[in-house]
Amino acid sequence: MTILRLVGVSDYPRFIRSVSCLLLVIVLLTALTGPVLAAKKIILDTDPGTDDALALMLALNSQELDVRAITVVPGNVTAAMGLENALRMVSLANRCDIPVAAGAQHPLFQKLITAEFWHGKNGLANIELPPSKCKVDGRFGPDLIVQLVHASPDEITLVPVGPLTNIALAVEKDPSIVPLVLVKEVILMGGSINGGNVNAAAEANIYNDPEAAQIVFQAGWPLTMVGLEIGDKALFTPKYLDELGQTRGPINDFIYSVTKFLVDLSATFGAAGSPMYDPSAVAVAIDATLVKVKEMHVDVETRGEFTRGETVANRRNEVERNVLHGDRYVIEGVDKVKPNAKVCVDVDADRFLQLFVSRIRGK
Ligand code: BDR
Ligand code: CA
Repeated sequence: MTILRLVGVSDYPRFIRSVSCLLLVIVLLTALTGPVLAAKKIILDTDPGTDDALALMLALNSQELDVRAITVVPGNVTAAMGLENALRMVSLANRCDIPVAAGAQHPLFQKLITAEFWHGKNGLANIELPPSKCKVDGRFGPDLIVQLVHASPDEITLVPVGPLTNIALAVEKDPSIVPLVLVKEVILMGGSINGGNVNAAAEANIYNDPEAAQIVFQAGWPLTMVGLEIGDKALFTPKYLDELGQTRGPINDFIYSVTKFLVDLSATFGAAGSPMYDPSAVAVAIDATLVKVKEMHVDVETRGEFTRGETVANRRNEVERNVLHGDRYVIEGVDKVKPNAKVCVDVDADRFLQLFVSRIRGK
């Protein structure tokens, strides 16, 4: 009290009320602006690609995310075409401040398989975007990843939505990005636990570089697998397309045209809508409560005749212990295996699709 008097405070109860009010205002402001201040730093590794375009624009239009770099991997299209597409999209979004870097030119041990059949001849639904005002970053994609991760320890989330070649190369070049959680987490679109979309077993991103995928899954970092289960449940139907068509603007119009292409394509296969694969990984980075996860140990099959590229998920996280007794093995017990992935098993599809539409509409 004496000190308060000394600094000129005479009405003590009133002073306390004012301080309490001020504190309340600070707490409320922090709560309201918290998500903006704490934007998650991400690196998007992509093979653009129609649904890659949706993922990219969702990320750029979401204040929860701070896109620190875009690295390009060959997959849906060649490395050169993917780079051109990424640059044109970043330019359309007026975000030349984001480094866009080329990465690997081909998968680690196999020939590239491109998917113009699904994504249009230019990979972007045959939509011709204006030439890019943005310039390519001269650094090699995996090197850029390593550099940015070291510059912000425990802050960068990697969001790969293509084959995992660049991410595997980053780990191989500098394994120190993994231990001590230097990379905060990896949220990848790829894999499935209920059969593939390339064939009976494999999902496309994993199938296009199974060895790289195995490196990424076994690296030992916090990893979330957003597989086919999520995109297949979140179908972009004409209803969402109509909502998107109610607003205009460069990004809105571009994404409207891409999604129209995808909805029309899905209709030719008798589907009600187009699966939202790549945006689902970005959505999980924005709001993890959109999905339900189960911890599992996941390995990538690299040798099977019918199963190369399959993500083999151990739902029980245990294996029988078989011990050789003479001419046969005998099961002597069960050994635990440590989960290495949070596998997304369900999604609040409408909430995700509404989030996507509203963000693209700039809301
Ligand atoms: C994945 O394969 C690619 O064609 C898509 O862009 C997506 O990343 C889905 O299996
Ligand atoms: Ca992709």
